[in-house]
Amino acid sequence: MPHAVMPVYAPAPVTPVSGKGLWLYEADGTAWIDCIGGIATNALGHCHPALVAALSHQAETLWHVSNALVIPGQRALAEKLTAACFADLAFFSNSGTEAVECAIKTARRYHAASGAPQRSVIIGFHGSFHGRTYAAINASGNAAYLQGCGPLLPGFVHCDLDDHDGFARAVARPDVAAVIVEPVQGEGGARALSADDLLRLRRLCSAHGVLLIHDEVQCGMGRTGRLFAHHWAEGSAPDIMAIAKALGGGFPVGACLATADAASGMTAGSHGSTFGGNPLAMAVAGAAFDIIADPATLAHARAMAQRLREGLAALRARHPDIIIDIRGKGLLVGLKLAPNNRAFIAAARAQHLLLAGGGDNIVRLLPPLTVTAEEIDMIVERTGAACVAMTCPAVA
Ligand SMILES: Cc1ncc(COP(=O)(O)O)c(C=O)c1O
Repeated sequence: MPHAVMPVYAPAPVTPVSGKGLWLYEADGTAWIDCIGGIATNALGHCHPALVAALSHQAETLWHVSNALVIPGQRALAEKLTAACFADLAFFSNSGTEAVECAIKTARRYHAASGAPQRSVIIGFHGSFHGRTYAAINASGNAAYLQGCGPLLPGFVHCDLDDHDGFARAVARPDVAAVIVEPVQGEGGARALSADDLLRLRRLCSAHGVLLIHDEVQCGMGRTGRLFAHHWAEGSAPDIMAIAKALGGGFPVGACLATADAASGMTAGSHGSTFGGNPLAMAVAGAAFDIIADPATLAHARAMAQRLREGLAALRARHPDIIIDIRGKGLLVGLKLAPNNRAFIAAARAQHLLLAGGGDNIVRLLPPLTVTAEEIDMIVERTGAACVAMTCPAVA
């Protein structure tokens, strides 16, 4: 049907009107297993009662005030986030890409404030994804997203994650401000960096006075079974970190977290946002944090991740011609496929299973952290049915 939405997306023919936990429902009652989860955003599933209550209460109290006034919910959430990780300070944004934007500005302003304004280069990695602002598409360097958008921004270089020598040379350049990396690449192919890799990046950044930025927009907030993905590698904490997605459990909010030292250039007037950190977002994110950061939630997510991985490994053994590899970490799972991933997503949709795509011909499974064992088994069963359909399309 013709419509007036700018055609930058090609949505699947599914129109959810309500959701509960893992499930989405269309107007006629058709039920879908949602393993897209708003692309790793609905960490507590759809319409979690605690988030509904927090949002409803705040909606009747106060929606929006400018950052020119005190917003107590911001201070409370900043307190919770910084108490749970390396950071001392938080800036709240509306999205992941804005959190990345703030991270890049924070890094460059740190060097400017430290008397080294020539340190402005940001090193990114091939296969990364940091969002869609100009800085973010230049940081990831993905040609498909840069194409047609005019000249490349200066001050961004890219390394290959496997080229350790090339990275060691790049990070030693005297004009480098920061390195930006996803501890688990999401969109680029669900590639999880090893603890050794994360520690190597940390070590080299420290050795050269370069700030380390982690983009945990997708892999953070419990997605891997720890609150932050870098918590799997003790000693690898960054200086600056961008988070979003699950932070609001489906409500738009992001944050740039930093140590006090790394944020030393972020003085009054250096950055801002009209909506970032408004009372509605803070109420929902505060409630989401309490549940996600609960050790019981994270332990459940790890157990469900293991069950999912075991189920998928059995499918891979049965369908080696379809599933080539199982990637990712925790409940950020990528299946590297032999057949076209878009065709597989369509086959899964025929089973009423919604999967996300990704680079390197993967499909991603991103169920909520609250998914049950029974639901994991249903996900595996429907993924298996999609494999069978791809193997013998005539029978399906
Ligand atoms: C790792 C990563 N960084 C940044 C972004 C951008 O976030 P947003 O779409 O909220 O701007 C995404 C979105 O998928 C992401 O996965």
